[in-house]
Amino acid sequence: MGYSEVYKSWQNDPEGFWLEQAKAIDWDTPPQIALDDTNAPLYRWFTDTMVNTCYNAVDRHVPTRGDQAAIIYDSPITGNKRTVTYAELKDDVANLAGALVARGIKTGDRVIIYMPMVPEALTAMLACARIGAIHSVVFGGFAANELAVRIDDATPKAIIAGSCGVEPGRIVAYKPLLDGAIDLATHKPDFTVIFQRDECRADLIEGRDYDWHAVQQGVTQADCVPVKGDHPAYILYTSGTTGAPKGVVRPTAGHLVALNWTMKNIYNVDPGDVFWAASDVGWVVGHSYICYAPLIHGNTTVVFEGKPIGTPDAGTFWRVIEEHKVRSFFTAPTAFRAIKREDPKGEEIKKYDISCLRALYLAGERADPDTIEWAQNIMGVPVYDHWWQTETGYTIAGNPAGLEALPVKIGSPTVAMPGFDVQILDESGKQMPSGELGAIAVKLPLPPGTLPTLWNAEDRFKKSYLTTFPGYYETGDAGMIDDDGYLYIMARTDDVINVAGHRLSTGAMEEVLASHPDVAECAVIGVTDQLKGQLPMGFVCTNKGTNRTDADIKADCIKLVRDKIGPVAAFKLVAVVDRLPKTRSGKILRGTMVKIADSAAFKMPATIDDPAILDEIKAALKPMGYAKD
Ligand code: COA
Ligand code: AMP
Repeated sequence: MGYSEVYKSWQNDPEGFWLEQAKAIDWDTPPQIALDDTNAPLYRWFTDTMVNTCYNAVDRHVPTRGDQAAIIYDSPITGNKRTVTYAELKDDVANLAGALVARGIKTGDRVIIYMPMVPEALTAMLACARIGAIHSVVFGGFAANELAVRIDDATPKAIIAGSCGVEPGRIVAYKPLLDGAIDLATHKPDFTVIFQRDECRADLIEGRDYDWHAVQQGVTQADCVPVKGDHPAYILYTSGTTGAPKGVVRPTAGHLVALNWTMKNIYNVDPGDVFWAASDVGWVVGHSYICYAPLIHGNTTVVFEGKPIGTPDAGTFWRVIEEHKVRSFFTAPTAFRAIKREDPKGEEIKKYDISCLRALYLAGERADPDTIEWAQNIMGVPVYDHWWQTETGYTIAGNPAGLEALPVKIGSPTVAMPGFDVQILDESGKQMPSGELGAIAVKLPLPPGTLPTLWNAEDRFKKSYLTTFPGYYETGDAGMIDDDGYLYIMARTDDVINVAGHRLSTGAMEEVLASHPDVAECAVIGVTDQLKGQLPMGFVCTNKGTNRTDADIKADCIKLVRDKIGPVAAFKLVAVVDRLPKTRSGKILRGTMVKIADSAAFKMPATIDDPAILDEIKAALKPMGYAKD
């Protein structure tokens, strides 16, 4: 069957479609019914099942592929390489899970994982899954305060952390950040498990911190604990409009069924093939495509600790593809923009044989046509853009290459996947004609594996996603669908920006800037950046009578965002201005400020209070290299 037939078969019988896909999963109690709509518009899938994620990702493969590499660890930044077979992974995971059980972790308890890109990060995730504990992985580039916010929301009984991360030119000691976060948080975990890395060993607090290896000494290996199909597999925090991140809940059974489907149908790999997602376990791509999906499907996954450039050069990706015989490769467009900038003629790739590679998949941010064309030319493989969100956990729209490779239209992530009825709506919720721009919404119910709710925040879930367009999930993206059904993602409709494929909240940054004693008022916008797609830019108005210079205040603001949110925010652009442009009702005209900074044409907003302010903004931006005429 081709794409259209499969999509139609899903449309005709969504439950039948997913029950069929569910046959690829090993159940303790298999599904009889697929969808539970008794609490609509809140939907749940496979609630009548019992199943274990770790069993499906690890144990079930051991009899047939015990000696196959489950994980290839390749760390150009530390010079380490290692392979973990499925049989070894099972032992590693069962031992760590045994240690967690011995220290009192039970099904349903939360465990925060704060780890760099090492295989042990996956071991920790799978150990939680093995015993039905709910993990929440926090990205290493976040500051202690962000970690503390997540500790207070998830209230974990334990935290598993690495002693450090390794960034180009610096070691990031995680333990002081972890200690700081635990101090800041109201909730205190019972204990921590620290994976000591040679690059920087951490001091342990007696009675609270346990060494990764020592805590596993003499424990009984833990068996897989079957959980209910809608049991949360994990919570992953993502940026919303305010400083409080949203805890996206991932339901166990739907996650297994849907991810397994994507591996062949979208990424076109067979069990045994090597699959590589160059991302980080702290992001959804890392959850779905470094850890769970490849393992559920019996693939080999690559855990890469490095950067596209500088570790050691712009040929790193090609070296990894050749050396580990990568079949399908997934990363963010920004990584390719970085390589293109460093090696525009593609000299590095000539040194490697990447004939093992079938296709490149890009997601996480808009893939600009230049980058796609460049990648296609130098790699000689199809480049597939695909669109998804932390909330869905897998592709909403993509090119189902394993089912039928559809013609690529550069600028479009292609078509809606089975499970997703994607529509373009106007402000009143009416469907827009093809080719016209509107809000992108997905008709409810969302398919298995997507978020059923937000952790501890059902009202916020409803308000954020289900209220604007009753009967639909509001994606927060705007775009259009053309006559061939191809989707185009144009912009966010909220205050979320995308910096190097990382989703960040300008609202959260504004909250941080507003906490500066000399800042009277502020706004943060996302400006266009050639490398990272977008960069945050802050505008601050200072209190009258401050004796600090503008330069001091700018430096303070940059430091404050780095300390409170983290280096990943890449917040380095600040303008001190007298006033912010506003409407007569006092709403800050952020959209107009973005246009001015990007030197784009804009229409003077009819409701603007004082148009002269726009000239002041322009004047402040020019010395920073923005707002060019
Ligand atoms: N732990 C601690 N700090 C981290 C970190 C981590 N895990 N990841 C990033 N940082 C820090 C970086 O060191 C940098 O700090 P600096 O301001 O001191 O230089 C800052 O956060 C910004 O990092 P990054 O956005 O990675 O920018 P960069 O300039 O270091 O690198 C790219 C630019 C394009 C090479 C890089 O962004 C990249 O590889 N992007 C791929 C993105 C990706 O995989 N996204 C996942 C979605 S699919
Ligand atoms: P995240 O939840 O971090 O994966 O971010 C999801 C958001 O990133 C989406 O809502 C989009 O705004 C953006 N995004 C992800 N993939 C794409 C894509 N292929 N094209 C355009 N934007 C994308």
